[in-house]
Amino acid sequence: MNNSENGSKIGFISAINGSLIKIEGLENDIQIHNMIEIIEHGIHGEVIQIYKDHVIAQCFENTELLKLKDKVIDLKEPISMELAPGLLSNIFDGIQRPLEKIHSNFNNSYFLERGIKIAPLSRDKKWHFVPIKEKGDIIEEGDIVGTVQETPLIKHMIMAPPGASGNLSFIVAEGDFTIIDEIYRIKSSREEKTYNMLQKWPINTNRPYKKRIRPREPLITGLRVIDLLFPLAKGGTVAVPGGFGTGKTVIQQSLAKWSDADVIIYCGVGERGNEIADVLTQFKEITDPKSGRPLLERIVIIANTSNMPVSAREASIFSGVTIGEYYRDMGYDVAVLADSTSRWAESLREISGLLEEMPAEEGYPAYLPSKLSRFYERAGLVTTLGKSSLKNERMGSLTIIGSVSPPSGDFSEPVTATTKRFVQAFWALDAALAYSKHYPAINWLSSYSNYPDYISDWWNEKDYKWEELSDMDWNNCRILVNEILSIENELKNITQLIGKENLPEEQQLILFIGGLIRNSFLIQSAFDNIDCFTPIFKLLFHIKLIILLYYEGKELLKLGFLVEDITRLNTINDIFKISKSIPNEEYESILKFKKKMLEEIKSLKMMFGDRRERFIY
Ligand SMILES: Nc1ncnc2c1ncn2[C@@H]1O[C@H](COP(=O)(O)OP(=O)(O)OP(=O)(O)O)[C@@H](O)[C@H]1O
Ligand SMILES: [Mg+2]
Repeated sequence: MNNSENGSKIGFISAINGSLIKIEGLENDIQIHNMIEIIEHGIHGEVIQIYKDHVIAQCFENTELLKLKDKVIDLKEPISMELAPGLLSNIFDGIQRPLEKIHSNFNNSYFLERGIKIAPLSRDKKWHFVPIKEKGDIIEEGDIVGTVQETPLIKHMIMAPPGASGNLSFIVAEGDFTIIDEIYRIKSSREEKTYNMLQKWPINTNRPYKKRIRPREPLITGLRVIDLLFPLAKGGTVAVPGGFGTGKTVIQQSLAKWSDADVIIYCGVGERGNEIADVLTQFKEITDPKSGRPLLERIVIIANTSNMPVSAREASIFSGVTIGEYYRDMGYDVAVLADSTSRWAESLREISGLLEEMPAEEGYPAYLPSKLSRFYERAGLVTTLGKSSLKNERMGSLTIIGSVSPPSGDFSEPVTATTKRFVQAFWALDAALAYSKHYPAINWLSSYSNYPDYISDWWNEKDYKWEELSDMDWNNCRILVNEILSIENELKNITQLIGKENLPEEQQLILFIGGLIRNSFLIQSAFDNIDCFTPIFKLLFHIKLIILLYYEGKELLKLGFLVEDITRLNTINDIFKISKSIPNEEYESILKFKKKMLEEIKSLKMMFGDRRERFIY
């Protein structure tokens, strides 16, 4: 048997079946999940099965030009991500080929030409490195030895990789370096090793941390229905299932733009190619509200659109999560957005079909649940390896938001049902709501979140109490709103039978307030300059104004007024104005609305004194 230049044995292709190839000659040394290269085409693949006389690999590119007897070598490492400055603002495919570079260097499209070899991260670009540690310092794995301002928004911590510890025997002075220049050396009892800024990490292995902690802060999304009713925690998991066109991508993109994660990893999996191009332009154009810089400076995009090879798609969500864990390890709050995990699951099904594996439900492989759970289990709030220079402990979080596209919107299909087992929150998108232009189309009856108990202390610290509603903190507001919406739903069924006017006034009030909550508070336009993001105080003031109206309304009914007296109040128009007309930080206007509402109700009571008397006597 021949040997290649890197000392690896040379095998050869003995069968080709779609993206799968059978290779003979490598089976004795190779490990499962190792990468292979088909030498003359420069095409890469991953070993997925090993037999006594051959191995099976899936290729990450189109296999049309391959021939029997083409030579193959073992690259002797699993698919790994390159981790170093240069990830942010970049767009990669599932195996980290830099698409924008390919786009500008080659054919001016995001289609990949076969066998293109470009390093994921630039080897030439120089980064300004500022050392934090000094020669002689004791270094533990994960310690930050220096920093690089990767983009104006994010400082990149250069960390000693997992497993590296000892004495810092050398570190460069502040200056400009490429990611492959030597930066520092660590001497242990056994050896002295040299390090640059580049780390590699296999995508199927979780990056280590010290301890997992219970989530305690919300990931503020700026979407009112989520932040109040179905909140997400930093370090949490959520699925966003929804049929065709129900708004999954719009929700994912709003989160990428407005959520308060420091770093966003946006994985566009099997979606339309033009959507990814749109995402890129939008993220370039939109500025970060805090810094005024382009949002792209805190985003990494992984794109495996429907026109790219299916096998790299399978890797893409794990690639995204690996890059996410790396920024988490620096102490950042990271959100990984995967749109859509169904397209990812379909790639599993396709490959499994080619392998002629025994299919489980609807043709998906039996290992679909274990793969999905391995993806979602990588979310969490953790104390990271290493110490921070300021505090002794560094914390970082990784939140995973996965959209699911069940065919014909049926949530009992395998990908949705399996995902539900592994996530702590579920934003169920409803075709009927989307059809009636109620966006975001999150159904308030079938969605849920297990995070409120974890994060209510955080909200209580932030909350600004109103004397008229002293017991209404965030949690009580959400409990009451849920209650009103579910009673409203039951009453709606009854009104279909007996008509609204035959309900007692108290129940008619609930119908009215439920409608007000839905139409003024839950509906939110992603495309309106103000409405696209609601800060937490505006959210609390808005919902409290509605709750105050509800309580005052109940009082009025007790005094003998009718629901129609309440629906005629001018204050209702004010409530409708809040989301789109009142600038986001202008809480004063909402407080003015409250004052106006209370005055209006007071004068109503005086004007309609006769109605009250009629009721009492
Ligand atoms: N929050 C929103 N505000 C306003 N319009 C919205 C909102 N969400 C969705 N839409 C409308 O619905 C359309 C479809 O949304 P989107 O592309 O997000 O659906 P999807 O669920 O990702 O669809 P697919 O299943 O095809 O991927 C959007 O183009 C937009 O017109
Ligand atoms: Mg979509």
